[in-house]
Amino acid sequence: MNADHTGSGALPDWPSAERVAEVTAELRGRPPLVDFADCAALRRQLAGVAAGTATVLQGGDCAELFAEISPAATAGKAAQLHELAELLAAGTERPVVRIGRIAGQFAKPRSAAVEPGPDGTPLPVYRGDAVNSVEPTAPARTPDPRRLLTAYEMAGRVLAHLPSGVYTSHEALLTEYERALVRTDPATGRRYCSSAHLLWAGHRTRQPAGGHVDLLADVANPVAVKVGPGTTPADLTALVDRLDPYREPGRLTLITRFGAGEVRRHLPTLVAAVHRHGARPVWLCDPMHGNTIHTADRRKTRAVRDLVAEVLGFVDVLRAAGGHPGGLHLEMSPQDVTKCVEHRAEALGQPALPRYRTGCDPRLNDRQARRVVAAFAAATSPQSPPTLEVSHA
Ligand code: PEP
Ligand code: CO
Repeated sequence: MNADHTGSGALPDWPSAERVAEVTAELRGRPPLVDFADCAALRRQLAGVAAGTATVLQGGDCAELFAEISPAATAGKAAQLHELAELLAAGTERPVVRIGRIAGQFAKPRSAAVEPGPDGTPLPVYRGDAVNSVEPTAPARTPDPRRLLTAYEMAGRVLAHLPSGVYTSHEALLTEYERALVRTDPATGRRYCSSAHLLWAGHRTRQPAGGHVDLLADVANPVAVKVGPGTTPADLTALVDRLDPYREPGRLTLITRFGAGEVRRHLPTLVAAVHRHGARPVWLCDPMHGNTIHTADRRKTRAVRDLVAEVLGFVDVLRAAGGHPGGLHLEMSPQDVTKCVEHRAEALGQPALPRYRTGCDPRLNDRQARRVVAAFAAATSPQSPPTLEVSHA
């Protein structure tokens, strides 16, 4: 039962449709994970971001691991988000809406279905703890639908220890899981996906007529879409019509991830097309996913200088288009991970990155995250005049 219309191996091929049906039936009987009123509150706050009176910091793990969930780990991630948000608020002189990639970021889209295992034979890829295990053996990598129930339990555990003032978000990749958690709010009669406050469709699953966008169109949560290379103006206006037909402030966020070398070339046309179409979404910059490079020993990394260059390009493009640079979407960790490097040459020259964790995209450590946040704040602070000239270099 492969419902993967992307043709890219982005989605898991569950071994048994019956087991998935049993698990989703069980999930349908479970209580909502988040409060509908909080989803609505986030949407109102995002309306302020779209209007330019507030900024977003969305950040956290590329993929959360079940084994690393603990009250202390949750508190540490929330503290990092709050501290970075305060840095951003001080620099921009505007309030910051805090959204974690947390309490449900358990599934990863993949470009290839298999990878070489330790002995060179092909092994199914790791797809996030909601699907399979990172351990490189065939049984551990076989998708297991019962993991969807564990994902629900683990999200609940994280939420129980998440301090107030942090909203939750994740990529709505596993539509069978997300659909099983859609509930009607008795107070308003609106349907919400109760797995998180905000959900997004990824770069690989953002087809305007696809099942992931269908899911987001069906619910009243604030929703987002990743926008990257290959996205056309027609794709974006179709997404706007599908996800924000009434042009409601705060409903739609577009998260751009082109890479430092491409953002100034591709983003201006897309922003202009969306604005001409009568939409005023929140625009966020994800400087992570368009700037992935490989070390000499073929590990993924990212250079902080590239990230900062993409952020500055993003700010310039939005300003030149008469829009608001709404904020940042980051993969980061309060742990002292060494995964991102300072500049590209370092990735080539120094292949061994200590404390490198595989199975997950390279996150920023705290010092690196501060640099990216400070660059955004400096470029958008009231003291920094807008750059009107957009370079296509
Ligand atoms: C992600 O956010 O982890 C991700 C896979 O991003 P994208 O869909 O933009 O590639
Ligand atoms: Co990632």
